[in-house]
Amino acid sequence: MNDSRNLPIGVFDSGVGGLTVVRALMERLPLEHLIYYGDTARVPYGVKSRATIENYSAQIVSFLLAQRVKALVIACNTIAAVAGESIRAQAGGMPVIDVIAAGAKAALATSQNSHIAVIATNTTVNSNAYARAIHAQNPAARVQSQACPLLVPLVEEGWLDHDVTRLTVREYLKPILADDADTLVLGCTHYPLLKPLLRSEAPHLTLVDSAATTAASTAQALAAADLLRHDDGQPTRYRYCVSDIPLRFNSIGERFLGRSLGDIETVPLG
Ligand code: DGL
Repeated sequence: MNDSRNLPIGVFDSGVGGLTVVRALMERLPLEHLIYYGDTARVPYGVKSRATIENYSAQIVSFLLAQRVKALVIACNTIAAVAGESIRAQAGGMPVIDVIAAGAKAALATSQNSHIAVIATNTTVNSNAYARAIHAQNPAARVQSQACPLLVPLVEEGWLDHDVTRLTVREYLKPILADDADTLVLGCTHYPLLKPLLRSEAPHLTLVDSAATTAASTAQALAAADLLRHDDGQPTRYRYCVSDIPLRFNSIGERFLGRSLGDIETVPLG
C-alpha cells in the first residue's frame, strides 16, 4: 500500500538534545515511524552564526527529504530560531513543526500574568525568536530571556543534580527570580533533563517543556493534514542517524531518550 500516512516523521537537532523530543513523540504518537538526525559532528549550534546554521540545517533537511518523510520536526530551538523560515521553504508544503512555535503557544496558555521567562542558548536568545513568537499571539505579554550557555555541556556531562549545575542555574535564574515572571520556558532541548533541579530552584515558576508541547503540536498538524498513521499491525520503526558517533554517545543518548538507542547509523553531511 502506498499511503503517505505510513511514511516516517523526520526529527532533527544539532546533536543529542532532540532525543527529548523523540521521547515525547514516542509517548504521544506511539504508532508513528520516526527517523532522527543529530549533527553530532558539528554540535554545538548555539554559538554559531545564522549563515552556518542555515547551511547545516539545509543539508540535514535534504537528507531527511531523501528518506521520504511525511513531516519535519525541528527538535532544536537554535535551528528553529534562525533557520525555521528557510527550512519551511525547502520543505514545500510538508508540515513543519518547531519547538519555538509550540513552546510560545504553551507558555501563553500557562502564564496567569503574561510575564514569561525563557532560558536558551546564546543564538536563540540573540535571535529574539521566542519574544517574536509570543508577541505575535499576545503583543502585551512581557518576555524576559536569559542565555545559559554553560547548561548544555553540564547536561551532556550527566551532572543533572550536581552542585556545580545547581550553582550555575542559581546564577542564571537570578534576574528572572528578581522579577515577577510566573512561567519559565525551557528553550533548549537539553533542559528538560534539568526539570527536577529547576523546580527546586524556582518552585513558584511553572515550567514549559518544549518537548511535550512539540509532540502535542505534531499530533495536531498530522491530524489536520490527514497524515496520522493507523494501526496496521506492523511494528513502529525508529531510525537514529548521526554525523559522528562521539565517545560515550550511547550512554548520553540513552539518558535523553529514556531507553536504549539500538542501531545508530553514521551519515556525515557537507
Ligand atoms: N539543541 C540545541 C537547542 O535546543 C542546543 C545545543 C546546541 O547548542 O547545539 O537550542
